[in-house]
Order: sequence, then C-alpha cells, then structure tokens
Amino acid sequence: MPLLLAFDDEAAPAQRLLAALNAAAAPPWTLAFVQRHRFPDGEWRLRLPPEPPAEVALYRSLHQPNEKLVELLLAAPAARELGARRLWLVAPYLAYMRQDAAFTPGEVVSQRHVGRWLAAAFDGLITVDPHLHRVATLAEAVPVAQAHALSAAPLLGALAAQRRPGALLLGPDEESAQWVQQAGRAAGLETAVARKVRRGDREVEVELPAREVRGRAVVILDDMASTGRTVARAAAALRAAGAASVDVAVTHALFVGDALAAMQAAGVGEVWSTDSVPHASNAVALAPLLAGALARGAAA
Ligand code: R5P
Repeated sequence: MPLLLAFDDEAAPAQRLLAALNAAAAPPWTLAFVQRHRFPDGEWRLRLPPEPPAEVALYRSLHQPNEKLVELLLAAPAARELGARRLWLVAPYLAYMRQDAAFTPGEVVSQRHVGRWLAAAFDGLITVDPHLHRVATLAEAVPVAQAHALSAAPLLGALAAQRRPGALLLGPDEESAQWVQQAGRAAGLETAVARKVRRGDREVEVELPAREVRGRAVVILDDMASTGRTVARAAAALRAAGAASVDVAVTHALFVGDALAAMQAAGVGEVWSTDSVPHASNAVALAPLLAGALARGAAA
C-alpha cells in the first residue's frame, strides 16, 4: 500500500490529499507523519516509519523553505535506506524558483542548485504553478525522472468568473501572462497584462496596458504575492484609472509582513488563493489536482 508521508504542521492539507487520493486511486494510500524532535541547539532528529512500502510520497509545501529543505534532505535518503523504492515530493509551493539567473557577477542561481538537490533526493516532483520564467520546463529546473507542473490558473479563473462575472483578468507583469491566459481561456474572461519594473524587494512600478478599465470589475491574477507590492501598485493604478472593483486571485498566498494591509490600502477588495500556503484567503483546494497527478504518476 503506497504511503503518504507528511509533517505534523501540514496535517490538514495532507489529510485532504489522502482523502482525494483514496477517492481517485486504487490501491488505497495510507498516511503517516515524520516525527520531529528539535535538540536544544536547533538541530532536528527525525523518525520515519521503519518499514515504508516501495512507493512513498512526501508532502511538503516549501513556503518558509530553509528549514524544510534540511528536513527533506534528511528524510528522503533515510526513506530510501529504510526500503522506499520510488520517492515523490509533493510540494504545492516550490521555493527558490525566482532566482533563475545571476544578475550580478557571483550571484548564486538558487533555482539551479535547489533543483539539483531535490533531483538527487527524489524520483518524482509534483508542484503547482512553479515560477518558471527564463527556464521553460520544470524538468529543466528540477531534473527528476517525473516532473509534473500543475496549474491552478483555470480553477482561479473559474472562481473569478463566478464571483465577478465579466471581469477583466489582469496579470501585473509579463511573467504572469502564462497564468492569466490559461485562466482567461478556462473561464471565458477577457485578459490583459501590465508591465512591471522592480527596483527592490518592496519597490516596484507597474504600468497598465492600454485598455479601458473605467467602470469595470478587474481581477488581478498572479502565481504569487509575497510582499504584496506588485499587486498593490497594480491595484492603485487600476483604481486611479476608474476600475469599479479590484480583487485578487493568486495561487500562492505567501503574504509576508504587511502584504495584505498594503494590498487593501491600495484598493483591493477580496483576495482568493489556493491552499498551497495556508491562509485565511484560501478559496481553492488543490487536493483533487495533486491527487490526480500523484495517482497517475504512481501508476506509471
Ligand atoms: C514575480 O514575478 C511573481 O510572479 C510575483 O509577481 C512577485 O513575486 C510578487 O512579489 P511581491 O508580492 O513581493 O511584489
């Protein structure tokens, strides 16, 4: 019986994934948790089920990633030593994908190195809307035998169409075009893409496309919001141009610090996200999407 292995701080999404797997897959999956003890000096002691089956999937969404990467780099080879033959990583949010080029001499291309670590540890990876910009495919960024990049954009598009019928879907920068187009096609909504210049972590400028938004409902759609400044600048520009409402749909609600407050202060109404990162704005459950991909991958 294949095993889904999770960490206690992600029990709820792991349970949802288990339920979706067992609605979709035969043979049924079981769920167990990695037991963690933190030593006084900060190091981890991990304990896995001592006799795992051949097929094991580790569930770990990689927001706040640094400690989690260490956990994975300990747990994955240990699972193999204990008997796992094929090891999956189910990481709804995949970290370090935005650092995909060296912009100054000596700058570390984190995407490449984190990708190589994960590929050395796992046989398969399932993730959602990874931030692939200068790299075309997930397998290039994380060269595992089975690399599955799923998209929540159609689900977010459908939600936007249901909550704001006839809305304009706006991508706040060129990189968002891929998700906005998918969402627009799936939901039958008109789309447009803005231009962004980033000058620092919290300093961005957004230039709206030449499209009349006066009196229209607009939904800003992106793969993620982190500091919320990209969304906030786009929302402020849309409000200044006369948009009737501005709501936000993102796959990954990283929302660090005052992100939500900054977006609301800029005129954002509602915020909808997937449950890749637990947050009060979660409105789309990813479990059925993840379960379908994992069941198909495990059957292959
Ligand atoms: C990058 O292009 C991403 O798609 C997001 O637009 C970006 O990471 C958002 O960052 P922040 O919320 O910090 O502006």
